[in-house]
Amino acid sequence: MAKPTSVHHTEAGQGLPLVLVHGFPFDGTIWAAQLAALGDVARLLVPDLPGFGHSTPLPGPPEAARIEHYAAALLAWADGLGLASFTLAGHSMGGYVALAVARLAPARLAGLVLVGSRAGADTSDGVARRYALAAAVAEHGPIAAVDAMLPRLLGSPYSRQTAQVREIMLRQSTSGLLPAIYAMATRPDSTAALATIAAPALLLAGTDDATIPPSESELMRDHLRSAAYVEIPGAGHVPMLEAPEAVNAALRPFVAGLRPPILVPPGS
Ligand code: MLT
Repeated sequence: MAKPTSVHHTEAGQGLPLVLVHGFPFDGTIWAAQLAALGDVARLLVPDLPGFGHSTPLPGPPEAARIEHYAAALLAWADGLGLASFTLAGHSMGGYVALAVARLAPARLAGLVLVGSRAGADTSDGVARRYALAAAVAEHGPIAAVDAMLPRLLGSPYSRQTAQVREIMLRQSTSGLLPAIYAMATRPDSTAALATIAAPALLLAGTDDATIPPSESELMRDHLRSAAYVEIPGAGHVPMLEAPEAVNAALRPFVAGLRPPILVPPGS
């Protein structure tokens, strides 16, 4: 039998759990500035998604990986830590995983934060680009993802952080990247599901995000029941690392104002 995925995490602070999930192809270290600054308003937990950072990959062939498998691994990890409910913050692919968690276990969400993410599925052109990237990563490793993504990743005021972001991307593994590419390519459209999310939401987007434009966050705000939208001026696709003070200033009051959901035991 395949071994269950081992999810590595770091944590800091006290209070209601706030789980910060990175995007592709990064790891939990992109949230370092939030982990360092927000421990007075929440218990911050920063996992590495399966196959990234120090977490083991999903079992099975890469082509079979689905976004729900990442969500299930995250829920199993939360169960192992005894986290009955938590606020989930997802960056980009981490947001796709967060929306899958919202579909699988809506009652466990105290709040939802989506950073530079979107609810829609890939277009057919987008899927074709994913499969081209998968072929390039299979042949050349993580440098293929760096070449495809890095030139458009950061807002111009933050280009001094290019080397740092490149290093994070390069230290990921081919065996971690491939399943994530297939999972993103096959993820469902979550737009209609947004209206069913009861937890308060916060949407953050860099004004200069050329990977996932801020209009995607505005669209999600229009479909969610209760959502605030904050733009991070000048930032690109990784605002938590490009403009940490602005991101923390948006997260702090949102997180401080959340209450745990009332959990109804099954069968009652
Ligand atoms: C990410 O940052 O997770 C990716 O850019 C998301 C994507 O490629 O759709």
